[in-house]
Amino acid sequence: MEIMKLMEWCRSYRRFDQSKPIPEAVLERIMEAARLANSASNRQQLRFIVVRSPEMVEKIFPFTHWAAILPKEVGQPKEGEHPVLFIVSTYETATKAKWTDLDLGIAEARMTLTAAAEGVGSCILANIERDPIREALDIDASYEIATIVAFGYPTHESHIVEMKGGDVKYYLDEKKDYCVPKRGREELFRMV
Ligand SMILES: Cc1cc2nc3c(=O)[nH]c(=O)nc-3n(C[C@H](O)[C@H](O)[C@H](O)COP(=O)(O)O)c2cc1C
Repeated sequence: MEIMKLMEWCRSYRRFDQSKPIPEAVLERIMEAARLANSASNRQQLRFIVVRSPEMVEKIFPFTHWAAILPKEVGQPKEGEHPVLFIVSTYETATKAKWTDLDLGIAEARMTLTAAAEGVGSCILANIERDPIREALDIDASYEIATIVAFGYPTHESHIVEMKGGDVKYYLDEKKDYCVPKRGREELFRMV
């Protein structure tokens, strides 16, 4: 996919074809993208848990919360629409440094873009219930659960729309596709 098309396509997806697993080769690429990511002082502190068995994905799913802006019955993936893979990002709490969150953002951006290049949709999730997730995945108390990325083949589209009156709220159109307002370039950049 041409790079700018990829940027456009790489949106947050929240309904997936639950019957379609991610091929092993695609998962390998997603993991490699995180492995090769930049990190402050090249410390590579992040550790990832790949949740791919359907049973385990279903065990984690109830602790993930989607599209807080929309009514729950609209934003939350329904039965049959769940993601088929979660990658949980963690780091050892004692090693948390000034730039750990930036490292996290870079690694997750690389994973979501790599997935998108393969037609796999994703959604970064910060609104998660960390305690039950820790228990289900047996994550040591010395590790912080940062965020989760959900993956799957999307069953909806997502389009960038012009932002009106500074309103950042995304919404669904009549086809139930996501519409995501983005600020104009003139608002984001100052040229000197
Ligand atoms: C750090 C971060 C946390 C997010 N947490 C959630 C979440 O918990 N649930 C959710 O449905 N979407 C979540 N999102 C997705 C955002 O809502 C989404 O990026 C935003 O609405 C813009 O849409 P876009 O990704 O299609 O550009 C998160 C995104 C980021 C970057």
